[in-house]
Amino acid sequence: MCGIVGYIGEKQTVPILMEGLEKLEYRGYDSAGVAIYSQEDLVVKKFKGRLSVLADYLEENPLPGVLGIGHTRWATHGEPNDINAHPHTSYHGKIAVVHNGIVENYMKLKNWLKGKGIEFKSETDTEVIAQLIEYYYEGNLVEALQKAIQKMEGAYAIGVICKDQPDTLIGYRKDNPLVVGIGKGENFIASDIPALLKHTRDVYFLEDGEMAVLTRDHITILNDLGEEMNRDPFHVTWDIESAEKGGYQHFMLKEINEQPKAVRDTLFPRVDKENRIKLDELRLTGEELNQFNKIIIIACGTAMHAGLVGKYAIEKFARIPVEVEIASEFRYKDPFVDKKTLLIAVSQSGETADTLAALREAKGKGAHVLTVTNVVGSRISREAHDVFYTWAGPEIAVASTKAYITQIIALNLIGLYLAELKGTMTRAEVADKVAELKNLPDKIQAILDHQENIQAIANKQFNQQSVFFIGRGIDDYTSKEGSLKLKEISYIHSEAIAAGELKHGTIALLEKGTLVIALATQDQLYDKMLSNMKEVKARGAFVVAITKEKSREEVEESADVVLSIPDTDNVFTPVLAVVPLQLFAYYTAVARGADIDKPKNLAKSVTVE
Ligand code: M6R
Repeated sequence: MCGIVGYIGEKQTVPILMEGLEKLEYRGYDSAGVAIYSQEDLVVKKFKGRLSVLADYLEENPLPGVLGIGHTRWATHGEPNDINAHPHTSYHGKIAVVHNGIVENYMKLKNWLKGKGIEFKSETDTEVIAQLIEYYYEGNLVEALQKAIQKMEGAYAIGVICKDQPDTLIGYRKDNPLVVGIGKGENFIASDIPALLKHTRDVYFLEDGEMAVLTRDHITILNDLGEEMNRDPFHVTWDIESAEKGGYQHFMLKEINEQPKAVRDTLFPRVDKENRIKLDELRLTGEELNQFNKIIIIACGTAMHAGLVGKYAIEKFARIPVEVEIASEFRYKDPFVDKKTLLIAVSQSGETADTLAALREAKGKGAHVLTVTNVVGSRISREAHDVFYTWAGPEIAVASTKAYITQIIALNLIGLYLAELKGTMTRAEVADKVAELKNLPDKIQAILDHQENIQAIANKQFNQQSVFFIGRGIDDYTSKEGSLKLKEISYIHSEAIAAGELKHGTIALLEKGTLVIALATQDQLYDKMLSNMKEVKARGAFVVAITKEKSREEVEESADVVLSIPDTDNVFTPVLAVVPLQLFAYYTAVARGADIDKPKNLAKSVTVE
């Protein structure tokens, strides 16, 4: 996720772009840049780091001009540095582009362009867009962009300016947001409304495949066939603060609702139309991967819970033993690690001190280190041998949600990839699993579409002293995550217990009305879970059950309330079952008036031991 702003008008562009980018910094903050049409040239200034680095530079070195594009980056291809920062320009400096999204076939296009003698400066997919447009440019920018787009696969929004066309700014969107701001004698493009609100409240929302061609006084919207479209402007009535959160009350809720997109962005570039997995980012050869005799996953908190789900999937698919270790424990226990160990460090931030220390410990003992992380260029990504980036976009709320779901997707892909390599699953079996993975975004959305049911339960139960989560098998891991989410943002004491363990102690804590959230999504353990629900109900507990749609009616007999999730493969249920738990934690915290995005005593990235 990145932030785009563009301006064409009569005012000085730099201050307008910088104000807009400041409002979009939540979309990315590892580097920032602007391209301004200034004194008959395109001048690009871009720097690694927060927006303030660029702001300081531009304050000391003013850049005049009335047409420009700006960008705040959250790296996906290429580490955050000055060269990889946007805007990117074409070979002869004719075209400048800012971009949000991923061009999936960029390597193929890059090699094709290189074959035509075009040189590249950066490691980004975005530079390919600028080069392609210039390659096709014969005096008509719209036509050049239309030709370039036909070559590009993926999901993206872009802003484009051209040295030869000082009176034109172009925006285009495909599966990523872009709004057009309507001014008087000036017009704008932006990734999100907050960037525009200081200047206008009237906007056009572009649809997928549409291009907006802006001059100072006119906006033309073209569809993918190049036909002009009529569009009614939308008048924005929200205040700036809620607009930054996309109209949601909190970043956490916004991020929960972004999960279908986060899964799509992480999954789709790594699987093809035939449901083959391509993990191009792994530098290990098949032979090298095959020689590992064990995998250790290290992580903390929510990332560790993703690791537990990953263990289940990798062992099931690839039949390799997997241990999951809490990073802060691992380094002090003199672990069994050698050259035949693949260590997977899972970390949203890529900066967690305990995970980093555990990684170094294992690396020192000869393990090969692969990290699953969300932050390009983070310390863990720099120290690992191999990196699998989750493309969830920046996660602002302290409570991790969309990063967790994408970590599970990553570990499933790694498991399936290894399975095919080792021959524990056939190509067709892997393809079937990938086909179901592709259905998950829509299934998550189906749960999100009915979140009022979960809110209603939270509104009745928010005064509980203690909440217990129970489950068996992979459901036990999802329970652990549900319990952590609830305690960290609502401050209610909660525990997750493997359902079969209840009768060995914890059941003593149940009283009349105690809330027990029971997960029963595993077909092979389903009867056992029904017995466990009856067991706690007999002690007076109020039971909320989460089960697959197909089991709903049967479970109703053993629970007070049933929430169903769409049917899916048993191994993939954690991706769906966690969503009602995240929403329950969120709405409970809202009902208790807690500070949801910044819970007390917690930090987003824990860089101390
Ligand atoms: O950035 P990391 O994934 O390494 O962070 C690990 C934990 O600190 C993190 O998951 C924490 O548990 C979250 N607050 C959970 O929501």
